[in-house]
Amino acid sequence: MTVAHEDLAAAPPEARPEAALVAVEARQAEFEDVRAAADGCRACDLWARATQTVFGRGPVPARLMLVGEQPGDQEDVRGEPFVGPAGGILDQALEEAGIDRETAFVTNVVKHFKWRPAPSGKRRLHERPDRAEIGACLPWVESELALVRPDALVLLGATAAKALAGSKVSVTRDHGVPLASELAPLVVATIHPSAVLRARGAAARKEMYAGFVRDLKAVARVLSGS
Ligand code: URA
Repeated sequence: MTVAHEDLAAAPPEARPEAALVAVEARQAEFEDVRAAADGCRACDLWARATQTVFGRGPVPARLMLVGEQPGDQEDVRGEPFVGPAGGILDQALEEAGIDRETAFVTNVVKHFKWRPAPSGKRRLHERPDRAEIGACLPWVESELALVRPDALVLLGATAAKALAGSKVSVTRDHGVPLASELAPLVVATIHPSAVLRARGAAARKEMYAGFVRDLKAVARVLSGS
């Protein structure tokens, strides 16, 4: 029996992530039920300054799932993950790696944009989510994983890597190689695409981007069985 969308959405807003995960694990909720329940999530305080919940997008199930940190400014406004500048880098790198983004499920560990105003007051600057915020949000990405059931899970950057594969994972050291994890048959960490944008100088940017594409190509090879 599937839990009706209204039932899950009726769970107390602060208990939504756990309620959704329990329902998914009991096969009583489907993707749309979970996504709708996440709209009203109040499991931490980030919702108050965000425009909306930014849930994962893509086919369910999917062979590939990519997880970033949290929505950025543009994602917050548009309600979709990785549609801003970091998303542009991701799209380009996926294409170079021979992966069609449309076939992948793309999401974030944290579903609300955490920000502070720039000194000018005109822009919203990204702030890293803290441990409590990540912990409160984690059941959403666990629900997504249980529904998407990917063959390959790619963790983009340290926040996603540590939240899902353990605090000992170092993206600098462990990128591009299979991690010991039961979350999916293949779990790989790589850099966050925004690291390419932040790299100082054209040479550093080029090198970082090339490494990112290499890591994604390694995943593509496993997915294509070659
Ligand atoms: N950075 C992320 O981690 N996720 C997004 O969706 C956008 C930028």
